[in-house]
Amino acid sequence: MTTDNLKIKHNKATLGNDVISIENLLDEKLFYYDPGFMSTAAVKSAITYINGNKGQLLYRGYPVDKLAENYEYIDICYLLLNKKLPNKNEKNDFAKEIIKLNKVDNDTWTFLESLNPNSHPVGNLMAAISFAASKNHNKWSLKIDSERKQCMMSLISQMPVFVAACIRKSNNLQIIQPRNDLNYIENFLYMCFDNSNIDNSIIEAMDKILTLHADHEQNASTSTVRMAGSTSTPGYAAIVAGIAALWGPAHGGANEACLNMLKTIGTIENADKYINKAKDKNDPFRLMGFGHRVYKNYDPRAIIMQKICHKVLQQLNSDTPYFKLAKQLEYNALNDDYFINKKLYPNIDFYSGITLDAIGFDSKTFTAIFALGRAVGWAAHWLEMFNADDFKISRPRQWYNGPVEKLID
Ligand code: CMC
Repeated sequence: MTTDNLKIKHNKATLGNDVISIENLLDEKLFYYDPGFMSTAAVKSAITYINGNKGQLLYRGYPVDKLAENYEYIDICYLLLNKKLPNKNEKNDFAKEIIKLNKVDNDTWTFLESLNPNSHPVGNLMAAISFAASKNHNKWSLKIDSERKQCMMSLISQMPVFVAACIRKSNNLQIIQPRNDLNYIENFLYMCFDNSNIDNSIIEAMDKILTLHADHEQNASTSTVRMAGSTSTPGYAAIVAGIAALWGPAHGGANEACLNMLKTIGTIENADKYINKAKDKNDPFRLMGFGHRVYKNYDPRAIIMQKICHKVLQQLNSDTPYFKLAKQLEYNALNDDYFINKKLYPNIDFYSGITLDAIGFDSKTFTAIFALGRAVGWAAHWLEMFNADDFKISRPRQWYNGPVEKLID
């Protein structure tokens, strides 16, 4: 076996690492091995760009901090789906369309009412969207561009209903139908808290939280949506697959795990002890909300999230001990050689849990709220996948290391 004959093509990226493709790898009877996809570009994508060393995140070319500062989540949804920021009319039409599609059918509503209050809200969310997927499995043709888009518009529109229902259920409360006179964020908060007069600062914080979660290029859940979607499974079903991948504590489940960690650590006096535990190779404890596969500098979302958290706590006059504790842990970690050498910084989940807790959400609901914000990113990637000139079913190879063929006597 030789690698001398490989035809390596160098492909230019508009930003970030260029990508090589090896055109005759299969002809040479070779596969490429890359556990965890550390250096594999599985797709071409024009939606989101992360520069991990710079701590930069762009949605369709726009820096996320500027977007969060100047635009609403509904603008971000439009941007991710339509490749441009909306003008006033486009935004109004888009928002109206979203409101128009938000009612779920009676059977799905009955199913939502039957969800088990003792089940985890993320599991219930998967069950709810699975139910809707099976009910509507042939409602939109995957072969028609406009129908695929309609499917994802419907999903984005109904996500607040699904997520709020799972949150209400987890508190053993009756679920609430959406109202057409409220905007996307107001409606979500209304369906969660049975209150249509939520303080503007909370609405604004919630809006920004969803903006910061809206997309994050080829992370585990988005790649899962693409992989499941590549088989032409119904759109809602591909999203359920993404939620399953999101749930784990290494990904979207980190916000819940982070708040639980802060509760366990309890006080600032314990900060050093837990930093040492995180550094100990023989201790499974990790500092949740710290570290990232791509960011080797500050996660730009974490910087904004910390500001939002601070503002919300001030508005609510909250005396939660978790913010101070988180800041102390952050300070200790950022001044510790272990975290410095491994380039471990706070990620978005470090402060999002404290903010959601202050707003009144239970920690077990945090990942469902992450899914609400991320649904539009999954939708944008799912749609992009179908329009790709090299769209193929995802089917990785393996490095087989089992027994060679055995004879049966
Ligand atoms: N606490 C202590 N050590 C850590 C941590 C941490 N949070 N994160 C990474 N390390 C160490 C790890 O032990 C390893 O050390 P060594 O090289 O000696 O074996 C090194 O840093 C590299 O870590 P890794 O796990 O190989 O890196 P990865 O890119 O495979 O994993 C990660 C990234 C996010 C899964 C990991 O940093 C982690 O588990 N963090 C805590 C969970 C978390 O906050 N996840 C949310 C990610 S952001 C939200 C999202 O978009 O999903």
